[in-house]
Amino acid sequence: MAYKNYIMVCTGTGCESSKAGQLYENLNAELKAAGVEEEAQLVKTGCFGFCEQGPIVKILPDETFYVKVKPEDAKEIVAEHIVKGRPVDRLIYKEPSSDKTPVDTDNIGFYRKQFRIVLRNCAVINPEIIDEYIARDGYGALEKALFEMSPDDVLQEIKDSGLRGRGGAGFPTGTKWGFTKGVEADQKYIVCNADEGDPGAYMDRSVLEGDPHSVLEAMAIAGYTVGASKGFIYIRAEYPLAIDRLNLAIAQAKEYGLLGDNILGTDFSFDIELRLGAGAFVCGEETALLASIEGKRGMPIPRPPFPAVKGLWGKPTVINNVETWANIPVILLKGAKWFNSIGTETSKGTKVFALTGKINNSGLIEVPMGTTLREIIFDIGGGIAGGKPFKAAQTGGPSGGCITPQFLDTPIDYESLMSIGSMMGSGGMIVMDEDDCMIDVTKFYLEFTVDESCGKCAPCRIGGRTCYNILDRISKGKGEVEDLQKLKDIGHAMRKASLCGLGQTAPNPVMSTMKYFEDEYKAHIEDNKCPAGKCKDMLSFSINDNCVGCTACARVCPVSCISGEVKQKHVIDQDKCIKCGQCFTKCKFEAIDRA
Ligand SMILES: Cc1cc2nc3c(=O)[nH]c(=O)nc-3n(C[C@H](O)[C@H](O)[C@H](O)COP(=O)(O)O)c2cc1C
Ligand code: SF4
Ligand code: SF4
Ligand code: SF4
Repeated sequence: MAYKNYIMVCTGTGCESSKAGQLYENLNAELKAAGVEEEAQLVKTGCFGFCEQGPIVKILPDETFYVKVKPEDAKEIVAEHIVKGRPVDRLIYKEPSSDKTPVDTDNIGFYRKQFRIVLRNCAVINPEIIDEYIARDGYGALEKALFEMSPDDVLQEIKDSGLRGRGGAGFPTGTKWGFTKGVEADQKYIVCNADEGDPGAYMDRSVLEGDPHSVLEAMAIAGYTVGASKGFIYIRAEYPLAIDRLNLAIAQAKEYGLLGDNILGTDFSFDIELRLGAGAFVCGEETALLASIEGKRGMPIPRPPFPAVKGLWGKPTVINNVETWANIPVILLKGAKWFNSIGTETSKGTKVFALTGKINNSGLIEVPMGTTLREIIFDIGGGIAGGKPFKAAQTGGPSGGCITPQFLDTPIDYESLMSIGSMMGSGGMIVMDEDDCMIDVTKFYLEFTVDESCGKCAPCRIGGRTCYNILDRISKGKGEVEDLQKLKDIGHAMRKASLCGLGQTAPNPVMSTMKYFEDEYKAHIEDNKCPAGKCKDMLSFSINDNCVGCTACARVCPVSCISGEVKQKHVIDQDKCIKCGQCFTKCKFEAIDRA
């Protein structure tokens, strides 16, 4: 039945945490109270991507885009928009640059340069209803594979598409499947890597929450292609919404004969189970992940043999990332040629990024490979928060490096990011401005890898800890000039001698920041200064003659170390000051010097 209006409510984790669940309930109650539940259908959707503006409600067919909607706004939306056909102006998104309301969602600056393949169904369908996925050509690719294509045909299509793994390393997906297909074995497995351990990254979670069937369909297609009858999704237990939706999707797919025995009446059978991880970063490494599925401690083992040939329980296993999987059904339906017409020479298709940090429009974005960082930060991201200068963007998380202003126009793809000392990684992108200290940022990543190292091999375990200690010393003003060479030497050794990718890539943030921000390292070591004013041990706060004695600083100081009479110049007791900077932020008279 067709409805007059569709009310799409984002129920991704971000919006849920801002009370989108309550908003949904309230809208439901208001529709009933107004007696219009037959005219407007309320739809729970996955993430819209524009998380900065959540909770988001989009009304169709007029495409009204409501942002920052609170549960108590439900009454007005129903009474005004649904009943009287008058959109609620105060809730409609307006471009900050022009204060104008875009005509439709695609015209919003945040969306204009995006291209959604992986996120095609997120925010469009209710992920809890399989029919909605089917209505968007869902399971059409599986049907096409089973009835119109041989396993060789499917493999060729994936190879021709040029799809490369989105989990970090960018290995060609078709080649990987080809290895597994080429091995004789009584049992083969398909695994989805949904561990997503990178700090700040939530691309995979959003795909699973917003479009779980696309991953199930893709895994079944891979099973048909390589001759596997069993699949596992390894997902971290901290993703309860994604887990619930996956469980529901698996049950629905089985009920429809799209998973399980004799899929769609053919002799192909394929089943999928979930395995929950405890959230250790190293368990995202493929050999550690497989060990964890087998019930062993999640520790990497040397490769080769690669899992494609000898994986789960010693059997050939295809393991791909969530985003890689989500591309597969579209490639089969639209063809390799269509897919590889998008992107760059070496990197085809799109990439999803979780854009965070000092950016106006933080959120989840999907762009064609080859989009420049400038387009991402300034056109899609709306520029740097507070209009400050752009300093760097960290891509690839703890395995990556930073992109500096001189590379803003570099088209983003696997090779170009590597050539400038960064990495695509799985898609975390953290934007930094002049207030971010690169030593501090590097220390953060190194602390993360040191904590997450499994400790199996010495270069990673000892090298990582030693580098962290050196950085810590530098950030406390106790660094020495020789430390820079030491960091480089240890970094090179870790890259060469560590057993797995965690240790091999852990020095990347150090190497990258030392290359592009050498001056900042030197300022810490030689001048005892942190140019960004972040490293506490090097800071001092004092009050100058601009002070009018308003007392604002004294009132916010958490240790009460500022004294002075009203309308008299104040003073800071340097022995007691904990250098929190609250007074500096509070003073309206530029009377506090930070040195
Ligand atoms: C320490 C470490 C953590 C990793 N974490 C993930 C992860 O969370 N998700 C993921 O898909 N790949 C992760 N990877 C990469 C996987 O080992 C593997 O390359 C990937 O799952 C292959 O899928 P793809 O070809 O589709 O990218 C990690 C690798 C390392 C070394
Ligand atoms: S490199 Fe680090 S995480 Fe990897 S096996 Fe060695 S100690 Fe473990
Ligand atoms: S907030 Fe500024 S002007 Fe007011 S007392 Fe403190 S230093 Fe002086
Ligand atoms: S930096 Fe913090 S502790 Fe020190 S004077 Fe200012 S508010 Fe007080």
